[in-house]
Amino acid sequence: MTARIVDGKVLAERLNAETAVKAAAFTKAHGRAPGLAAVLVGEDPASEVYVRRKVKATVAAGMVSIEHKLPAETPEAEILALVHRLNDDPKVDGILFQLPVPKHIDAGRVIDAIDPDKDVDGFHVVNAGRLAVGFDGFVPCTALGCMLLIGEAGTRLEGAEAVVVGRSNLVGKPVSQLLLRRHATVTMAHSRTRDLASVCRRADVLIAAVGRPRMIQADWIKPGATVIDVGISRIEEGGRRRLVGDVAYDGAVQVAGAITPVPGGVGPMTIACLLQNTLRAAERRSGT
Ligand code: GUN
Repeated sequence: MTARIVDGKVLAERLNAETAVKAAAFTKAHGRAPGLAAVLVGEDPASEVYVRRKVKATVAAGMVSIEHKLPAETPEAEILALVHRLNDDPKVDGILFQLPVPKHIDAGRVIDAIDPDKDVDGFHVVNAGRLAVGFDGFVPCTALGCMLLIGEAGTRLEGAEAVVVGRSNLVGKPVSQLLLRRHATVTMAHSRTRDLASVCRRADVLIAAVGRPRMIQADWIKPGATVIDVGISRIEEGGRRRLVGDVAYDGAVQVAGAITPVPGGVGPMTIACLLQNTLRAAERRSGT
């Protein structure tokens, strides 16, 4: 039996349609649409694609997109000044600072300058802290997307063994917190984990977020497990460029109970959750 394919594109479209309805209601009530500022520094081709998609989705949902594309050599002080202006701008509800950034910029310092209540990426330490202690705050979009995909797969989390491979602030740590909140038994594995294959084999829910193409093999997967593949790497194969995840998909699909494809799994969900977070930021800031 092959795994159920959990289609992130279809789910994201459904969520975006819901967000658009709520955004229209916000616009009617407040005389302005929710606004998302996107800051992109430099010319990283993948980041340019991601920001373009985010801008397009923001506009399609009836929200305002305020784009700031800055040259790679922009001094950090100038970026900090822009963040402060966006913090003070009442038309801006959410601020997205696209990562990675050129080496001379300290991303942590820029994120730290973002008003936590406009931090729709959930990267600010205040929001990371709110998540860790269970307070209401902004949760990183990819982590939220993973949880919605697990829900779509119909996987029961209470008491389940969840293994998260990857310990980044963007995905690994926040998704572990969310799984814990849902009463899963969470193992955070990473590059130094001893016998990673055996650890993965325990998982009823396996989240792969390491950024290593096809690292997770079919025989690392427990039969019937739910597999969420966060990775997205560009590889050259048979003279063609293609996108692959952290999971060796062709084998994994024969073993897993449910699996997300790459592309078309987690990626569209990240954007859908960014729009949801932006709408929530607008509602919170307006007191609704
Ligand atoms: N770079 C990779 N993923 C993300 C994300 O979700 N948000 C931002 N701002 N940058 C990223």
